[in-house]
Amino acid sequence: MYTIWSDRLAPGARQMTSSAIRNMLQVTEQPAIISFAGGLPAPECFPTAALTTAAERVLVEQPLAALQYGPTEGYRPLRSLVASQMEQLGLAIPASQVLISSGSQQALDLLGKLFLDPQALVAVEEPTYLGALQAWRPYRPRFVTLPLDDEGLDVAELARRLANGLRPRFLYLVSCFQNPTGVTLSPQRRAALIELAAQYRLPIVEDDPYGALHYDGARPQPLAALDSARHGALRHVIYLGTFSKVLAPGLRVGWIAAPADLVPKLVQAKQGLDLHTSGLTQAIIMEACQHGLLEQHLPQLRSTYCTRRDAMLTALAQCMPAGTRWTQPAGGMFIWVTLSAHLNAATLLPAALEQQVAFVPGETFYANGGGMRTLRLNFTHATPEQITTGIARLGQTIAGSASIT
Ligand SMILES: Cc1ncc(COP(=O)(O)O)c(C=O)c1O
Repeated sequence: MYTIWSDRLAPGARQMTSSAIRNMLQVTEQPAIISFAGGLPAPECFPTAALTTAAERVLVEQPLAALQYGPTEGYRPLRSLVASQMEQLGLAIPASQVLISSGSQQALDLLGKLFLDPQALVAVEEPTYLGALQAWRPYRPRFVTLPLDDEGLDVAELARRLANGLRPRFLYLVSCFQNPTGVTLSPQRRAALIELAAQYRLPIVEDDPYGALHYDGARPQPLAALDSARHGALRHVIYLGTFSKVLAPGLRVGWIAAPADLVPKLVQAKQGLDLHTSGLTQAIIMEACQHGLLEQHLPQLRSTYCTRRDAMLTALAQCMPAGTRWTQPAGGMFIWVTLSAHLNAATLLPAALEQQVAFVPGETFYANGGGMRTLRLNFTHATPEQITTGIARLGQTIAGSASIT
């Protein structure tokens, strides 16, 4: 690209790249390909009828609230609804500390805008959510990566680094059924992390889009709830939630539950971005939820996704060559695969696409490079039958390239 404009790009804008996953989706959208690549919910599960009814009611009964400019903080009834949902998770918080965002993705960008400048340190899990890296790279921070295992973030390692002087602007983590690995921070590590936050005044961004999608047991208490219980108010944790995975991502509505003193800054930052999140979609969600949509919809959704998760775990056990490992997520949308030592997921991808199956090579989720042997599989979008077929194809592809090398 050479235009008078490209010459004048700001240094931060030069750091921007397209998401590798979004680029790949163009290829994997071909109908013949069984794609485990996108982080996509199952479209047949979208609650279309309930949203249609809610939309009609909103437009007939309260067109002004839905169509006029609204407050940057969000539609008041929806903020109260979110606050009551958070209370059920153990975080008693007033609606004034809930800010509606245009998806969690916007919340991540808002946090970058408020807290990051060139060389600022951000601590992230390795691997971590690609969209967070993408949101923050234009602010040119340095990423410090922390390992994770089957119990989530290695909190003991974080403690060692903090004791050695690490002082990040904040720690970012996906606490439940992480994207990309599917692992969940254990209760013991949650408690230990909240103690570290208190000891070192460590700010934590808890991103939790998948918490409601639990298949094997109760949902773990958010870090935000533990922090608030310890201090009598939310102090160290900013919590990000979203309706994307439980209703539909096209709604583009999420929320931030933040310590009281931070709310005005978040509002100022959001004003510059979009004035406010769409009033129409906020009112539709509120209307639908008032009529019990989440209570009706979530059990069905969990059951569908649990079947698909089980189909993928069974197929992996049957089809993966020896030496391949994978996570056993208790919820969410992803399984993380580690190939045997000599294999490289990115070089395997063209062969997989030839076999009409797609995945995301894991290296894109590594803030500072690495992860060449890893790949991410989404289990919510394909049907159980497609999952069985797709994993068999993937197993053959991996076995085939293992025998070549
Ligand atoms: C960890 C994580 N955070 C944030 C998002 C963005 O979600 P939203 O649709 O609410 O913007 C995603 C989407 O996949 C995600 O996986």
